[in-house]
Amino acid sequence: MVILQSLLFLCFMGSFYNSINSYYSIFVQSSSIETNINSTNNFNTKYEPTWKSLDSRPLPTWFDDAKFGIFIHWGVFSVPSFGSEWFWINWKNGNSKYERFMKNHYKPNFTYQEFANDFTAEFFNATKWSELFEASGAKYVVITSKHHEGYTLWPSKYSFSWNSLDVGPRKDLIGELSTAIKKHTNLKFGLYHSLFEWFNPLYLQDKKNNFSTDFFVTNKIIPEMKEMIELYEPQILWSDGDWEATAEYWKSQEFLAWLYNESPVKDSVVTNDRWGINIGCKHGDFYNCQDRYNPGVLQKHKWENAMTIDRKSWGFRRNAPLEDYFSLKELIKELVITVSTGGNLLMNVGPTKDGIISPIFEERLRDMGRWLKINGKAIYESRPWILQNDTVAKDVWYTHGKTGALYATLLSWPTNNTVTLSNILKMTDKTKISLLNSNELIKWRNREKYIDIYLPSIDNKGEPAWVLEITNFHY
Ligand SMILES: *[C@@H]1O[C@H](CO)[C@@H](O)[C@H](O)[C@H]1NC(C)=O
Ligand SMILES: *[C@@H]1O[C@H](CO)[C@@H](O)[C@H](O)[C@H]1NC(C)=O
Ligand SMILES: *[C@@H]1O[C@H](CO)[C@@H](O)[C@H](O)[C@H]1NC(C)=O
Ligand SMILES: *[C@@H]1O[C@H](CO)[C@@H](O)[C@H](O)[C@H]1NC(C)=O
Ligand SMILES: *[C@@H]1O[C@H](CO)[C@@H](O)[C@H](O)[C@H]1NC(C)=O
Ligand SMILES: *[C@@H]1O[C@H](CO)[C@@H](O)[C@H](O)[C@H]1NC(C)=O
Repeated sequence: MVILQSLLFLCFMGSFYNSINSYYSIFVQSSSIETNINSTNNFNTKYEPTWKSLDSRPLPTWFDDAKFGIFIHWGVFSVPSFGSEWFWINWKNGNSKYERFMKNHYKPNFTYQEFANDFTAEFFNATKWSELFEASGAKYVVITSKHHEGYTLWPSKYSFSWNSLDVGPRKDLIGELSTAIKKHTNLKFGLYHSLFEWFNPLYLQDKKNNFSTDFFVTNKIIPEMKEMIELYEPQILWSDGDWEATAEYWKSQEFLAWLYNESPVKDSVVTNDRWGINIGCKHGDFYNCQDRYNPGVLQKHKWENAMTIDRKSWGFRRNAPLEDYFSLKELIKELVITVSTGGNLLMNVGPTKDGIISPIFEERLRDMGRWLKINGKAIYESRPWILQNDTVAKDVWYTHGKTGALYATLLSWPTNNTVTLSNILKMTDKTKISLLNSNELIKWRNREKYIDIYLPSIDNKGEPAWVLEITNFHY
């Protein structure tokens, strides 16, 4: 943790106790993300099944406004709950850690499919989950409808009994969660979907044919994705498992043209960039690029940082020690840097096989929500500013709020209560600065190359981050 360094000046100006929300005659400008964000979206266009045409679709603004979502990895892998959600393939590929685990704890010839019987979800309460997600301050939720194991969390017609109604919970988990989430007007519902399935014989056949055949895509993937979109009308389709074959094999462009032209969510849905070899970071409504992508600099296209609270796994790990969980401070830092540089944060939790979101995840989520309740003006509906992080003060990140205020988030508190920023801001005698957790105006002083901001020495130093609201300035 870097502590802010600045000079000690004892020349405080008079103090003010005004409300800071009165005047907003501000002359700031956002550095615009070069994307098709357009508030007067016209979705009557017919998109062609080409990347050129698909890429011309404007990003539905709700996604850029939302900033923060919760990711859920849940499936049969939540039963062994060991290693990661890649349990099945790691075991079959002879990874000794997994082989030993199976040898020591399961009878010989135990199959991965048998785990599904123990995917009981008996404590799953979709209402309770959605209340927790709302309390976290998230604006959307994305759940694994089907991970690479191929098991669907809804009774898909195309799943050949490998689904949550036929084996395991005996419930339509996606249906229950979708209904519960949609009751929260400020939460959007999204579905993760893996294109490939490690052990599906149709997929393996196409793969053996070097993807010159398309049995799997035609008979399984396309109908399954359409079924899922029509049944649950997700606002996000989060694609994954694309990397062994091209977008042409996956028929991604044809599918996306259907999604944008004809599906029940054609005007509001957003998709990511995992649609085939070399598509990531190039095409899609928003880019995920790699897992845990957080470049630290402004990106030209809307992007999302998909990451996990458990540093090592997306699925629940029963044996994860406390230090493997990101602290609240680390999570807020991830959120702040992501949002300042034009991204959304998609933060993952792995529920247990019983349907419980463990208290450690719950605590992180509720704590995020508490911080956002106070500091959300710096996050929601904000846009990147001309500068993302301060050039003088370390750990200070900017966003431009929708009312025109500038937000400077301090990821650490300066030891002597003085933060020195670069003088990119032209302060006037009307400039007002305050912390979002207080109405008290903060004293500041312009030096030639710097601005010293004299923070109150109140005892609020246990916070994960602090936000300064700055109004009435030029830049
Ligand atoms: C704050 O403290 C640091 C050392 O911790 C010092 O270098 C800096 O000059 C101080 N700044 C002010 C404005 O007092
Ligand atoms: C927004 O979209 C509308 C309709 O497609 C178009 O007329 C307008 O020029 C666009 N505005 C910007 C700023 O791109
Ligand atoms: C495991 O399967 C093999 C091959 O089918 C069989 O020969 C063996 O007897 C089985 N072992 C047990 C303990 O059931
Ligand atoms: C599910 O959770 C909600 C909200 O906490 C609660 O009111 C309801 O009784 C729970 N349902 C069951 C079946 O436990
Ligand atoms: C697939 O490609 C490999 C390597 O190029 C080749 O050896 C194999 O014969 C091909 N298989 C088919 C079914 O085309
Ligand atoms: C922040 O800004 C400085 C330039 O002042 C830059 O060197 C640094 O890499 C930026 N990013 C981070 C993550 O600090």
